[in-house]
Amino acid sequence: MYVELKDINKNYGNFEASKDINFGIEKGKLVALLGPSGSGKTTILRMIAGLETPDSGEILIDGEVVNDIPASKRGIGFVFQNYALFRYMTVWDNIAFGLKVQKADKEYIKQRVDELLTLTNLKGFEDRYPTQLSGGQRQRVAFARALAPNPHLLLLDEPFAAIDAKVRQELRSWLKEMIEQLGVTSIFVTHDQDEAIEVSDQIILTNKGRIEQIGTPLEIYQNPETAFTAGFFGKGSKLDYPQTFRRFDIPEGVDDLLVRPEFVEVTKKDEFQKYSNSVSEGTIVEAEFRGDWIELKVDVDGNVINARRAPEAEPVEVGERVNVLVYKLLVTENDKARILYNESVREPVVVI
Ligand SMILES: Nc1ncnc2c1ncn2[C@@H]1O[C@H](COP(=O)(O)OP(=O)(O)O)[C@@H](O)[C@H]1O
Ligand SMILES: [Mg+2]
Repeated sequence: MYVELKDINKNYGNFEASKDINFGIEKGKLVALLGPSGSGKTTILRMIAGLETPDSGEILIDGEVVNDIPASKRGIGFVFQNYALFRYMTVWDNIAFGLKVQKADKEYIKQRVDELLTLTNLKGFEDRYPTQLSGGQRQRVAFARALAPNPHLLLLDEPFAAIDAKVRQELRSWLKEMIEQLGVTSIFVTHDQDEAIEVSDQIILTNKGRIEQIGTPLEIYQNPETAFTAGFFGKGSKLDYPQTFRRFDIPEGVDDLLVRPEFVEVTKKDEFQKYSNSVSEGTIVEAEFRGDWIELKVDVDGNVINARRAPEAEPVEVGERVNVLVYKLLVTENDKARILYNESVREPVVVI
């Protein structure tokens, strides 16, 4: 493991900002710290950086305990959400800043800044000041500045939060490619599940100062282990009257039942119906075209659930009665989550 946190605790007064934090990050990986606002992501990042001291526990970088090593000696690059660039410096001087502090050789600085201008697509902008740049360009300067001294570890705290959706999307793919190309171990903080899923090799999910689950984006999405994780990922709808869904063996005493849109199939009454003895009836209450799919809300005996239909399929209309087939549910009980399959779906298909 390149970065390791062992039994880290951090309180602010009586408030537990980090509680029993344990994780490891392999060299060269891009890991997302994901969680709602206030869940302790920035606190973890600041402790790794050396800007904050844990109350107990150890932080290791490259096998060495760094608890007592100052921030400036940890070989870390930062990009923060509002990491203000130096306003009175040009792009070139901003990028060169860290190298000048290190008193690097003049020729080397020239060559390195040039390299970074190319890497971040900022060639031609070197004489501009930050106010003469777009938000996306400014964040690329911030990346270049962080990367200039060749950090072993790159920490990014919600770097795209202040940038509008379209540019943010472009920056995400760009960042992922750039980090893969450079091979620098990186920790990316975000509260946006889509961003974490798209960008990272691994997600560390935080909630109330604790870690809920660690895994690849797909593992966490498909197999949420806790109630929090089940609710945080995907666009689940809670079922208020689950008994209306046929052929689910729902155990006594469960806390919540969640259904995600991808667990549901909505068909018109005259369409071919799979697993017909598992089907419930519902009424379309909303149907909105979203480009790649039609987003539906369907009322099934008082449960309003989200579902999707392909834009190519015959349209369904608000008020229309439809068949609703739920393949599986997420069940939560005592903070644990698991998947419950429709009995018809789990039965082996007999081919005659
Ligand atoms: N220096 C501080 N003093 C007191 N409370 C703090 C301090 N820094 C953070 N907190 C509190 O710790 C909690 C976690 O904060 P933070 O790590 O910034 O969360 P996140 O980055 O996930 O939004 C928040 O409730 C915040 O108010
Ligand atoms: Mg934060």
